[in-house]
Amino acid sequence: FPPLGMGVGNPRPVHFRSSSSTHLCNFKPKRSPIRCQSTSTDEPKTRRNLPLFFSLYDWFLEHGSVYKLAFGPKAFVVVSDPIVARHILRENAFSYDKGVLADILEPIMGKGLIPADLSTWKQRRRVIAPGFHSLYLEAMVRIFTDCCERTILKFDKLLEGESSSGGNPIELDMEAEFSSLALDIIGLGVFNYDFGSVTNESPVIKAVYGTLFEAEHRSTFYIPYWKIPLARWIVPRQRKFHNDLKVINDCLDGLIRNAKETRQETDVEKLQQRDYSSLKDASLLRFLVDMREADVDDRQLRDDLMTMLIAGHETTAAVLTWAVFLLAQNPSKMRKAQAEIDLVLGQGRTTFESLKKLEYIRLIVVESLRLYPQPPLLIRRALDSDLLPGGYNGDKDGYAIPAGTDIFISVYNLHRSPYFWDKPHEFEPERFLAQRKSEGIEGWAGFDPSRSPGALYPNEIISDFSFLPFGGGPRKCVGDQFALMESTVALTMLLQKFDVELKGSPESVELVTGATIHTKNGLWCKLKKRSAVHGNNVNRKAAA
Ligand code: HEM
Repeated sequence: FPPLGMGVGNPRPVHFRSSSSTHLCNFKPKRSPIRCQSTSTDEPKTRRNLPLFFSLYDWFLEHGSVYKLAFGPKAFVVVSDPIVARHILRENAFSYDKGVLADILEPIMGKGLIPADLSTWKQRRRVIAPGFHSLYLEAMVRIFTDCCERTILKFDKLLEGESSSGGNPIELDMEAEFSSLALDIIGLGVFNYDFGSVTNESPVIKAVYGTLFEAEHRSTFYIPYWKIPLARWIVPRQRKFHNDLKVINDCLDGLIRNAKETRQETDVEKLQQRDYSSLKDASLLRFLVDMREADVDDRQLRDDLMTMLIAGHETTAAVLTWAVFLLAQNPSKMRKAQAEIDLVLGQGRTTFESLKKLEYIRLIVVESLRLYPQPPLLIRRALDSDLLPGGYNGDKDGYAIPAGTDIFISVYNLHRSPYFWDKPHEFEPERFLAQRKSEGIEGWAGFDPSRSPGALYPNEIISDFSFLPFGGGPRKCVGDQFALMESTVALTMLLQKFDVELKGSPESVELVTGATIHTKNGLWCKLKKRSAVHGNNVNRKAAA
């Protein structure tokens, strides 16, 4: 989402003036960095020609955790501190809106939750959030499993073709495969529509990708030329964008019409009792139509569905892509993950219950989100003047900001902060467990688990905003558990059957950003079937 690749002028960081206006807050951290490397071995490419958020990280180390970044006449305050992030996202959340982000996404998502104005947001969030009930998630795990089976079947067939020509591994762009899988899952889970994109191409699928592509283009282009009257008729890519949008909107309108026409009292009763087990259609659309018929306006419903389609597709595909990228460079961790899968599932099916036992896989997912947060920056604009707190290492006077200030909360910086994370650039899913074991603490490393009892995954509450892959406060991601479980199921099912290697070197994987951090030319991997012997050996070792 964020304007990461702005092309106008050289961004220039300046020390941010604190509220006691007599001095500049060029503060030194109280804690020295635990280990302050600027790049890591798993980092694709050097910083030259890399997205802006890499430079934001260097400037964070140089200028502190709250600094101002000027782009010609425009300026952003860049925040890399959990206390300041908590203030903006939770404590004073309603004094901020989505600023630049809403400008970019409103033409696509309308009044959907992400760009919505405060009063629409309040009303829709109250209606939508209960839809992500734990029994809905349980029903979704069955859909995740079914969709992953289709992907596995496709890989099996491709491998069979290869075995007739000598048993070579298959080479696949795993980013593209995860993108298709995530699209199928979000379609079925949110509006019971089977894109079938793992095996097919269709005008609707092409339109979804076209729209995502345009959202990305807009987020990286400084001058919003698409707002110029007639641009949508004259500029070919804008014409295409409006055609794509129409294709998706027509499809969603049809699904909404159908959901309304097929509304049945027996289903409503089942939903009221949260009895998802016997529902033929457990989708969120069914829930929204059945439970809230009186408040549903078709246009709003379409905006809600479009928002979830866009918000829930590429993000999850990106998490899986980077998880595989990281695992492929760490074969011992891949084997450890497979050992856990062998132990918990053998050759069996992933279920809602089994997710609770697949702890290492869950931690791989969150560690991937720590290193590659999607999106890497959260964007806000101050509606009123505010006083940001001094922050963990900050100036005790805090920072006064005027109304209209644009803010980037750098989740990337927070997640790789040398002040909070040991070896911040290293892929270490165990980091969440190490301290728990050594200190006898029930929960995840260094965090206070009593703040979020029963959580399956580390989150921003437990970490007090030093780990916020889904944001925090009232505008926190509504689909966080959906996405985490989906990623855990997909990774489990992939590693249960296959060994994965990178086709080229990690350095050859070029990184670009728009809405999410993704690769420039795909994540090309070699996939081969795990042998039963290998699986059993690992199993025995793990059991030992
Ligand atoms: C909001 C991340 C998957 C729906 C957000 C935000 C983040 C995020 C960081 C907060 C944005 C902000 O504060 O500006 C992710 C990641 C995902 C994911 C990393 C996958 C790994 C999903 C899924 C859905 C979804 C699967 C829907 C099924 C939404 C919605 C919002 C949101 C509707 C706006 C919430 C609001 O403003 O009330 N997401 N998301 N996301 N996400 Fe997700």
